[in-house]
Amino acid sequence: MSILVMDTKVRYGAVSRFFHWGMALLFAWQFTSATAHWLFPDTPFEEFFWGTHYTVGVSLLSLVVLRALWALANASRRPPSVSVMAKLGHIALYGLMIAVPTIALIRQFGSGRSLEVFGITLMAGFEGEEITWMTDLGGLLHGELGWTLLALVVGHIVMAFLHRKLTHHNVLTRMR
Ligand code: HEM
Ligand code: HEM
Repeated sequence: MSILVMDTKVRYGAVSRFFHWGMALLFAWQFTSATAHWLFPDTPFEEFFWGTHYTVGVSLLSLVVLRALWALANASRRPPSVSVMAKLGHIALYGLMIAVPTIALIRQFGSGRSLEVFGITLMAGFEGEEITWMTDLGGLLHGELGWTLLALVVGHIVMAFLHRKLTHHNVLTRMR
């Protein structure tokens, strides 16, 4: 049982694989809603997807916190990094997965608007002046770092397949 659940040197365990692939699906959804907002404003496409951007974004932040804790708990057990670059790449993915939605939440708070997710009030909102450093931070960085994360994900996927082609190391089997 524990062999399945925990990571091992040769393969990520069930929990790590669930986080990886479940969140990959949610990120595909999240970048679809971001693209709809950016390129297709005021279309049915945007209307459908944009309404989910906050909810899915908050869900992703909750999941990545649990995932990072799980990764730390399994650090001595999981498959070793194939290179320093791979290790740094994965750390950068975690950094952006945490920073992008956190910055959005800081902006949301500073705007004074309320935030409700799955019927739960996360922020009550307030009357009066915006907290401008919070709204500026989000305006400056949320979208930009969000697209940076997408670029890093594309590189990550390319490297996963290149690795199998160019080296004898089939890293895909670790996450399958
Ligand atoms: C991991 C989670 C998230 C990712 C990857 C992400 C990604 C993005 C991207 C790439 C954009 C730019 C779209 C454009 O260029 O028009 C964007 C915009 C936006 N996002 Fe997110 N987002 C996430 C979470 C959130 C959360 C939790 C909130 C709300 C609390 C939020 C609120 C917004 C808003 C209001 C915009 C439009 C303004 C702007 O471009 O900054 N996002 N998001
Ligand atoms: C088709 C899509 C994807 C493929 C084929 C893929 C493939 C892989 C593989 C083979 C590994 C193991 C690498 C190793 O142990 O050296 C891995 C790990 C990882 N991947 Fe992906 N990946 C995909 C999507 C994503 C996405 C969307 C994210 C995040 C936004 C992501 C984040 C990570 C992280 C952080 C790790 C390190 C292990 C962990 O803590 O989960 N991957 N991926």
